Amino acid sequence: MKPMMKSKPDQDCLHGGVYSVNPGLVQLDFSSNVNPLGISKHLLRDLYSELNSLCTTYPDPLCRELKNSILDYLGIGLDPSWLLIGNGATELIHIFARTFIRRNVVISAPTFCEYELSARRAGATVKFVPLKNWKPDTEKILKESTNGCDAVFLCNPNNPTGILSTVSMRQIIENISSDTQIFIDECFIELVDEGDKKNTMIEMVSDYKNLVILRSMTKSFCLAGIRLGYCVCNPKLINRMLENKISWNVNGVAQKLGTMVLKDPSYLEKSKRLIQRERNFMMNELGKTTKFSPMLSDVNFFLIDVSNQSSVEVRNYLLSKRGILVRDCSTFTGMGLRHIRVAVKKHIENTTLIDAFKSMGP
Ligand SMILES: Cc1ncc(COP(=O)(O)O)c(C=O)c1O
Repeated sequence: MKPMMKSKPDQDCLHGGVYSVNPGLVQLDFSSNVNPLGISKHLLRDLYSELNSLCTTYPDPLCRELKNSILDYLGIGLDPSWLLIGNGATELIHIFARTFIRRNVVISAPTFCEYELSARRAGATVKFVPLKNWKPDTEKILKESTNGCDAVFLCNPNNPTGILSTVSMRQIIENISSDTQIFIDECFIELVDEGDKKNTMIEMVSDYKNLVILRSMTKSFCLAGIRLGYCVCNPKLINRMLENKISWNVNGVAQKLGTMVLKDPSYLEKSKRLIQRERNFMMNELGKTTKFSPMLSDVNFFLIDVSNQSSVEVRNYLLSKRGILVRDCSTFTGMGLRHIRVAVKKHIENTTLIDAFKSMGP
């Protein structure tokens, strides 16, 4: 098969975040897509009272309390044998690849770079299937995933587009060979406007033994520095992945905070309202400019088409002149210099970003 898309040369996996540049330059980080609501002070106070024992005691290697909290939160009637907890979702992507990938994988791209990195590290050849009108090309993905394909990586909603493709996810799950693992990254699904319930494929894990769903608490609950994620799939797959997991991979503070944040049922509702309101505000304001065209998104980040400017130059300008870091998307496989990605933050921060864009011309 001739390659449909080339990966970016000479690089591992480039992310945004303040440490992707000189951190001293960053006053506002719009390149990381975490929940803009942050973490509540009273939760941190409660955590503080337990910090001494959390820091000095070995954590539960099985994450039992956290697993029970996640299962209550998901409410899908599964038991802990269907869960694997990771030091961030990224750890689980790599554990999955190390466990199941040997020969070929299919990746719908552009998307999050860790799928490609983990597959290459596992020794596989990567076939990229380009998005079609910014959505997964279901037909091509199914066609490419025959003949020795170990896994297909999908992301719903996708990063960097922020677009949901729930119908495609279902079609791929229902039509792919049962010998191919389907890895669906739902790390942002709890932040989409209509919520996760209508869009998640999580309940299909009971019927499809080749389906792995990934979630991240670093995005939905703003625990990026804490590092916490989980995947849900058939216990047979979990048991195989456990062979590649180190002991105590999830520290005690992460386990405790993860359990605590799941107890507030109003948090995600408040977050989604904030995101929707602020995304509309940002898109409206950007729509008034001629140089920056925001693209529709279902979640807490969106792409901006910088038309004939260069995404690298726009990013460098905003950083050097305004202390604002945005994500230059030219480092995503399959993307050129035409797009940057910004997170939706709180109103005052969003206003600062919009003012900075407007200062670059009408
Ligand atoms: C789609 C997607 N999945 C997973 C991750 C990683 O999440 P974590 O911070 O839990 O490792 C990211 C981080 O940017 C992401 O964009």
